[in-house]
Amino acid sequence: MERGRFITFEGIDGAGKSTQIDVIEKALRDRGIEVIRTREPGGTPLSETIRRELLSVDMDPATETLLFFASRAEHLAQVIRPALARGAWVLSDRFTDATYAYQVGGRGFPAEKVESLEAWTHGDLQPDCTVLFDLPPEVAAERLARARQADRFEQEDCEFFTRVRNAYLTRAHQQPHRFMIVDSTQDKEVVSAHLREVFSQWQ
Ligand code: TYD
Repeated sequence: MERGRFITFEGIDGAGKSTQIDVIEKALRDRGIEVIRTREPGGTPLSETIRRELLSVDMDPATETLLFFASRAEHLAQVIRPALARGAWVLSDRFTDATYAYQVGGRGFPAEKVESLEAWTHGDLQPDCTVLFDLPPEVAAERLARARQADRFEQEDCEFFTRVRNAYLTRAHQQPHRFMIVDSTQDKEVVSAHLREVFSQWQ
């Protein structure tokens, strides 16, 4: 059986990912595709336990990076790889690009260390498509302030999110075959209509 597609969703906090992932999930299900919707950090009971610690406890950037990859290794083994192998499509709210953006871009953690963890954990498997929801941190912050209680990452300042955003954009421009950049300052309905159209056909 042909392996399923692996689609990931990225962007700074407040970019409106969740609503648009709903739209894509529906477009794919309407085509009769088996879809597994998941997230990082998280996606398995152990990875969700790691998530709670990551979002609430202050820690050294090395510990933080290793925990993201520990959570990811479990997620790959229990959910992502088995689903793709049986032909299902996996939609993951964040994946390794988030580590490059937040830990390397945001925190200044060395990129080479993340590269070696990536090669070790999933050197053989990369997303087929990564949708990057892009918008200025000032706009995202305004949306977040209205929405909910901030976690440990969402409490970072605008300069942090500017570095995260730039790191995402740099990766997107380096790997244009995989990334699709969406302008998240647009009206929500306009973005949804565009994504619905793309994913009702995307192979
Ligand atoms: P997310 O699920 O998008 O948060 P929420 O449920 O609040 O929308 O992601 C949790 C946070 O973890 C987010 O601020 C980004 C951060 N993160 C990293 O710093 N590195 C990573 O590798 C991943 C996957 C997430």
